[in-house]
Amino acid sequence: PLQVATPQWRPLLHYTPQRNWMNDPNGPFFYKGVYHLFYQYNPVASEWGNMSWGYATSTDLLHWHEHDVALPSNETKDIFSGTVVADPHNTSGLGTANNPPLVALYTSVFKKNASREPGVQAQSLAYSLDNGQTWKPYKKDPVLTLSPDSLHFRDPGVFWYAPGGYWVMATVVANAPVVKLYKSANLTDWTFLSDFGPAGFIRPGMLWEMPSLFPLPLDGNPAQQKWVLMLGINPWSIAGGSGSIYFVGSFDGTAFHPDRLPPDGSDPAAYDWLDHGADHYAAIPFAGLPENTPVTIGWMSNWDYASQVPTSPWKGQMTLPMTMTLRTIDGTPQLCLTPESHYTALVAARPTLSFDGLQVFSGDHLLPDRVHGQVLDIDMSMHMQNADRAGIVVRATPDGHTGTNIAYDMKKHMLTVDRSRSGLTDFSPKFSHEHIVNMPSQTGDISLHVIVDRNSIEILSRNGSVVITDLIFPPARADRVIAFSENGMTEFRHMKITPLDSN
Ligand code: FRU
Repeated sequence: PLQVATPQWRPLLHYTPQRNWMNDPNGPFFYKGVYHLFYQYNPVASEWGNMSWGYATSTDLLHWHEHDVALPSNETKDIFSGTVVADPHNTSGLGTANNPPLVALYTSVFKKNASREPGVQAQSLAYSLDNGQTWKPYKKDPVLTLSPDSLHFRDPGVFWYAPGGYWVMATVVANAPVVKLYKSANLTDWTFLSDFGPAGFIRPGMLWEMPSLFPLPLDGNPAQQKWVLMLGINPWSIAGGSGSIYFVGSFDGTAFHPDRLPPDGSDPAAYDWLDHGADHYAAIPFAGLPENTPVTIGWMSNWDYASQVPTSPWKGQMTLPMTMTLRTIDGTPQLCLTPESHYTALVAARPTLSFDGLQVFSGDHLLPDRVHGQVLDIDMSMHMQNADRAGIVVRATPDGHTGTNIAYDMKKHMLTVDRSRSGLTDFSPKFSHEHIVNMPSQTGDISLHVIVDRNSIEILSRNGSVVITDLIFPPARADRVIAFSENGMTEFRHMKITPLDSN
């Protein structure tokens, strides 16, 4: 069916293709000053299918240039998610010492007339000798299969393991669910290392997807290196549908050992969530960045309703790239996200409106007319003197009838995002309305960083250990901000708003 174009929801800060369907980021990597981003893409329609790798590049992670499809689906296979790595020492022998190759490892889903039964998933390889512009399939296809053949063996996440001097691949058997680790000296011949799949860690029908394994220093101390295993869970996410979790532990070159496991593996609330919102899935790190400074990017949608999302002529967008750190919070190491430095620099270069010290007594306080925009960066801390609840409404109409509500509840110690009145919400019964994080505050002081785009919000708190990413579909005219306090006074000690509409 022909759909009316929705430019009012086309994001300014987030990548989306010009048209058609997109899901997971694939093989994001940084090479010779350029960020490369591939992604699950349907070249011909706004619904999932004909899965191929779309392709875009950027020099600042904010402005993207879309290229032709990099790895197209064909009559014998679809191309599912995977990784791209640079092979500087030409371990694969697919390039030369002077022109080492880029190597893509991805999942082939075989079709009729292929060497395998239709639906079988296995890992394949393609390489590029021209900085990623064109790709050649490797002569042996696939390079890694499961025996017996599996319909759910996918999503290779590959990295160079320097201490061992070999490549490591994390994949999943999504429906087992289990993460499988392999190693290779040359990216083409893989041997099994170990399985990670704690018993009791499942709900019926739960899939594990998009695994990635990477080191991070704890609290910035390189002598205290930890390993993080991040993966997508679908369904049973904390906000419903699909979401990303992580484990912190160690990697000995063969197996991943988590420092701790949730006491009740069948309870999603017990896991460590990368994001407590509904729209942050399939997050994976960029390859090729300097060691210990990983940047992650995810798909900003949810398998519960991705196909009903009311945007046109595109469907699917990425999250803002975020820098990952590991910090001790409440005695446990937690994976924290902060906007990547190009975004921070963009905000710093723009004129800012400040409302430091604003006191709001029981009720709503509409910020003045000059604070308006569909794209805003809001950096704020509030002190709830004696209020029960307080917060802000973004993408609001002046009367407050429409808006996305971000509130902290002093009694329940909860941060809540409510998108029930955010605009269009009824395109899917699964478009969940409220997303909640438990977040203790003894003093009544809450700091929030809120990034508002034309169809999304990203909320970061507690040094980025608490993140809520949500799609919203507001009317274009809803471009105001309201501060509110319930049953008492709240002082917005610090409130810095930076309009970014003309990005
Ligand atoms: C995750 C996922 C992957 C798969 C791809 C297919 O969102 O299901 O497991 O490779 O999407 O498009």
